Amino acid sequence: MYTILPLAREEAPMIHSLLSSPPAVPVIRRALPADITAIAEIEERSFGDPWDQEVFAEALGYFPTTYFVAVLNGVVAGFVVGAFEETGENLYGHICNLAVSPEYRHRGIGAMILRRAEQQFALEFATGVQLEVRISNTGAQRFYRRLGYREAMTIDRYYANGEDAILMMKWFRF
Ligand SMILES: CC(C)(COP(=O)(O)OP(=O)(O)OC[C@H]1O[C@@H](n2cnc3c(N)ncnc32)[C@H](O)[C@@H]1OP(=O)(O)O)[C@@H](O)C(=O)NCCC(=O)NCCS
Repeated sequence: MYTILPLAREEAPMIHSLLSSPPAVPVIRRALPADITAIAEIEERSFGDPWDQEVFAEALGYFPTTYFVAVLNGVVAGFVVGAFEETGENLYGHICNLAVSPEYRHRGIGAMILRRAEQQFALEFATGVQLEVRISNTGAQRFYRRLGYREAMTIDRYYANGEDAILMMKWFRF
């Protein structure tokens, strides 16, 4: 048997505001040239060796279908730059870059944009997805592992500062 207690005076406005303004849900859409400045700002705040704006703009010209942003309340909160790689035997999706603004992390936005890119890779007949991640970036490795990626090999001195990369792969199974 439950007893319904009246709300404390200070709780009532909080519950009312939760009901009247549900939490914002990010919209995932294709990136546009107008997003490049915001994307480059997130990049600057996420990496010690950021891509510059020209590289982001160039990538949009090459791979517009697999380049997405997450928009929350009109603000670009994260992005993924995907590309295709043809090996002769297989077509792979490649995650070239992925970041979420520090203040929007740990809300599932990274997983949403990554899954959207994967969906597009599959629609365009890729057999799987690959990416490189710094050996020191254990947080991102855990994130990718949770989403089904597995370590395939280490690439020695892949980054400009001499750091090794881990190549991670995810195979599509239908
Ligand atoms: C890696 C990165 C893109 C992940 O973005 P994100 O939006 O935080 O990703 P998610 O929220 O989907 O998942 C991150 C963690 O938050 C947790 N999480 C997801 N939703 C959550 C929620 N609602 N509440 C609390 N935690 C949550 C997940 O379990 C996950 O935990 P894990 O890392 O232990 O697996 C982000 O940390 C980032 O931009 N890092 C810097 C750039 C970078 O390293 N990019 C990858 C280069 S290869």
